Amino acid sequence: MSQLSTQTENPESRGHPLIKIRELTRSYRTETVSVDALRGIDLEINQGEFVAIMGSSGSGKSTLMNILGCLDRQTQGDYSLEGNYVGQLSRDQLAKLRNQTIGFVFQNFHLLPRTSALENVELPLLYSSEKPGWKELHHRAREALDIVGLADRGKHTPSELSGGQQQRVAIARALVTRPSILLADEPTGNLDSRTSLEIIGLFQQLNRDGLTILMVTHEPKIARFAGRVILMRDGLIRSDRKIPAGDAREALENWQDEADDHDDPLADIEHAAKSDQESKN
Ligand SMILES: Nc1ncnc2c1ncn2[C@@H]1O[C@H](COP(=O)(O)OP(=O)(O)O)[C@@H](O)[C@H]1O
Ligand SMILES: [Mg+2]
Repeated sequence: MSQLSTQTENPESRGHPLIKIRELTRSYRTETVSVDALRGIDLEINQGEFVAIMGSSGSGKSTLMNILGCLDRQTQGDYSLEGNYVGQLSRDQLAKLRNQTIGFVFQNFHLLPRTSALENVELPLLYSSEKPGWKELHHRAREALDIVGLADRGKHTPSELSGGQQQRVAIARALVTRPSILLADEPTGNLDSRTSLEIIGLFQQLNRDGLTILMVTHEPKIARFAGRVILMRDGLIRSDRKIPAGDAREALENWQDEADDHDDPLADIEHAAKSDQESKN
């Protein structure tokens, strides 16, 4: 029997748990491979948090994000999202919960080519249970593009936009359904340092406005702008702690090509992640 509460909580109140997982495992089993990607994870994420998940390649970060995002299911353990037990939902219920609750951002943007920014952003609404009319659809997509600072680029196709602008369109697409959680898997992995800072600045702004954000990154220089850093290793959480988050806007103002690393609150995590990486190689 599970110890989690099944009652639905009020998602408006900052600080209440949006995500609760207990003893979560995920194993991949086929005839040829058997991998225990997650080996028993306990985690709570509260409304309003900005969390960075770090860890070397293969430590289980994407597997965890996919389960949190209801794209995949755990092998064992409990996952409750906004008070709903994900393991007990049907496929349709799960899809509905995902559409209403979660926005996704990926390393490679995943925009449709030869399709305008505005249409890319409209897409999730076309598939949502809300199914707004065309007028509302355009309005919502424009609003989302405005939030990410691209109100004037709606007609551009991805190939006519820079990497940073493409990621902004992808963020607008994630926001258009008004999710309570943004899940971002290596969102700055394909961006240069300065553009990465701009994207993190946007995340911080969205977070200040109440959006809960979980971001996978292997870069301490990016993780330091979150308020909490979780380090994964071999399918387990190795450390989990709150840090004084840097201000990305300030960092941008003082930006130089190779910013120095004085007072890096994650120096030891960087060291641990590096030694994990080296032990893998
Ligand atoms: N679909 C899959 N089938 C089999 N093994 C997988 C699959 N997806 C991931 N894995 C394995 O699970 C482990 C964790 O992978 P992943 O979550 O992608 O790690 P990370 O995102 O931290 O790099 C790795 O050993 C990986 O090879
Ligand atoms: Mg990954």
